[in-house]
Formats: sequence, C-alpha cells, structure tokens
Amino acid sequence: MNGYDLIRPLLFSLPAETAHGIVHGLLRASDGTPVESAMARRYRVRDPRLAVEAFDREFPNPVGVAAGFDKNAEVPGPLAALGFGFVEVGGVTAEPQTGNPRPRMFRLREDGAIINRMGLNNDGADVVGERLAGVDAPVPVGVNVAKSEHVGGADAPADYRYTYERVAEGGDFFVVNVSCPNSQGFEELQNRESMAAIVEALRDAGAAPLLIKLSPDLPEPAVEDALAIVREYELEGVVATNTTTERPASLRSENRAETGGLSGKPLEDEATRMVRFVAERVDVPVVGVGGVSSAEGAYRKIRAGASLVQLYTALVYEGPSLAREINEGLLELLERDGFDSVEDAVGADLE
Ligand SMILES: Cc1cc2nc3c(=O)[nH]c(=O)nc-3n(C[C@H](O)[C@H](O)[C@H](O)COP(=O)(O)O)c2cc1C
Repeated sequence: MNGYDLIRPLLFSLPAETAHGIVHGLLRASDGTPVESAMARRYRVRDPRLAVEAFDREFPNPVGVAAGFDKNAEVPGPLAALGFGFVEVGGVTAEPQTGNPRPRMFRLREDGAIINRMGLNNDGADVVGERLAGVDAPVPVGVNVAKSEHVGGADAPADYRYTYERVAEGGDFFVVNVSCPNSQGFEELQNRESMAAIVEALRDAGAAPLLIKLSPDLPEPAVEDALAIVREYELEGVVATNTTTERPASLRSENRAETGGLSGKPLEDEATRMVRFVAERVDVPVVGVGGVSSAEGAYRKIRAGASLVQLYTALVYEGPSLAREINEGLLELLERDGFDSVEDAVGADLE
C-alpha cells in the first residue's frame, strides 16, 4: 500500500475536477520548496539508458505528462520532481476561456477511463506566456497550442500564430492541437487545407520544433493527409493520440454516456495502432499517448515506434509514483529483451 492508496478514496469521493484541483494545488504549493526536492529524490529515476534525444531536445526519460493536466503552465517543476521526463502544458488559446459548464470531467472507474468536455479552459496566451517565461523546469516543456472557441476556420491560422508568439520564449517544443473533440469545428480543422494553413502560419512565425497532435478518430485517408503535411512542412514530430469520441462496447461505467473525449485504458490499443501507423510512414519522432498506465504499456508504444510516451488518465488512478514505476519497469524490460537503451527499443516491432 502506498500513500496514494490512502488518499484515493477521499479524492474519488469528490467530483473529478475538484479532486484534480486539489492535486494541482498541492503540486503548486510544493513548487520551489523542500517538498519538491524530497519528491525528486523519491520519484526520479536517473539512468542514462532512459535518456532520449528527440527533435534536438534531451529528455532524461521517455515518460511525459500529456496536455490538459497543467493547462496554465503552473506546475512543470513539481511534475518533473514526480519523475516525469517532460511536460506538455496547455492547451493554450489566444484569449482566456472558461470552458464548458461543470460538471465536465467524469471518471469511468470500472473502465480505468475518463470522459472530459472541458472545452479548453485556460488563462489565455498572454498570461500563460508570461508564466512560462518564468518556469525553470529541469525537463523539456512543450506547449499545446489550440484554437480559440469563437474563432472561425478562416481566422484559425492567425489565432494559432498569436498564441505561439506569446508562448514561444518559454517552450522547448510546440504541439499544434487540431484534435480536441471539445473545441467547436474541430473536424474542419483536420482537413488538409486547414491544417496546412495553420502549420504554415506557425512556421512563418518561426515555430520549431513543431509537432502535430492527431485524433484517434481520423479515418486513414485523413491521417495520410496529416502526414503529408508533416513531410511538406518538415514538422519535427507527431503526437498520437488525443481522446476519442468513440464509445467502445466494453465500457461498463455509468458515466459512459457522457459527452466528450474518452481517455485511458479503453483508448490504449487504438492509440498504439495509430503510433505504429504513423511510425511506419514518417521518419520523425512519434509521441505515443493514450491509455499508458504501466511500464508494459509504455514499452508497447515504444516498440510500436514511439520515441516518447505521455499520460494523463493513469495519473488519476495510479497516483504520484507512476512515473517512477514506469521508468523502473522499462529498465527491467530493456534488460529482459537485450536492449541497451530506450532508443534502441524504439520501433522494435516494426517491420
Ligand atoms: C481532463 C483532460 C483534459 C485534456 N485537455 C487536453 C488539451 O487541452 N489539449 C490536448 O491536446 N489534449 C488534452 N487532453 C488529452 C490528453 O492530452 C491525452 O491525449 C489523452 O487523455 C489520452 O491520454 P491518457 O489516456 O493517458 O489520458 C486532455 C485529457 C483530459 C483527460
């Protein structure tokens, strides 16, 4: 039994977003204090075999925090102290947004999943950009850049560009989010012309390294279109995947009928399939995300072609020791299979 087993029942007795707020608040309170250093001593796994170099950045280990956990870039330092090798903050939009009415985040406990329809609530690019400039985290910090709610398709490129310019100084890499199922008109954002216009605007503004985050619900031809853009604009990477609007028949929890994006266990295999699909077609690092909750799950994505992995939902269910468990487990799996490093294992299952 670890400490989280004791407080999980308390957190789970509260609405999901309230519990998230408490955890986030504790992390904020630890920032820059001896508690943060104590967490780092307890949770960080230092081993050169875990280190990954991707898009010209050095990652101490391949396990990152996915977008949405730290929307306003308030806790990259404490998350690094929990042992994560990188943090993607955001989604950030040009203007501050309150998001959808609550409740808008639901646990599906029996399924190890979450459904959320947050609607990209965040402090906006001006505030987050300023905060980010003051962040001094020991790991790379990526910024997830999203479209403002009220902005129509034609104005989307300028909207993304505005946000990028505000967060440029504080980010180590940038992720174009065209795949948030809770943002209005997102299907439209994922057609080839829209994606190209957004990416072009960001490239013109100097955005690099620039990655694109894809939806697991995209039909194959649309994924091919996205990958054509990756090649055409020489993007530095692909993040696969965002949440799904699908509802697998296996879901058991009462909350399965809620509207929004589904994340966690039920998304795992589909996300891994998408990692493989992308890794087979482009020659840039893939960040694998969706249902990672263990070393074995992280390893499956790495073997399917992911250079890095990320998670959000499992952190809610497993608690603060998860990054350490995954990193320690990865070292064992590498040893078992005779790999010298994580980088050696990337894409091992590809033809
Ligand atoms: C509450 C919540 C908020 C999220 N917000 C964002 C977001 O702002 N931008 C984004 O690209 N993805 C967002 N995501 C998606 C995650 O980054 C990730 O792609 C997805 O949850 C799958 O990973 P997981 O199964 O480990 O949670 C969010 C997920 C959750 C659960």
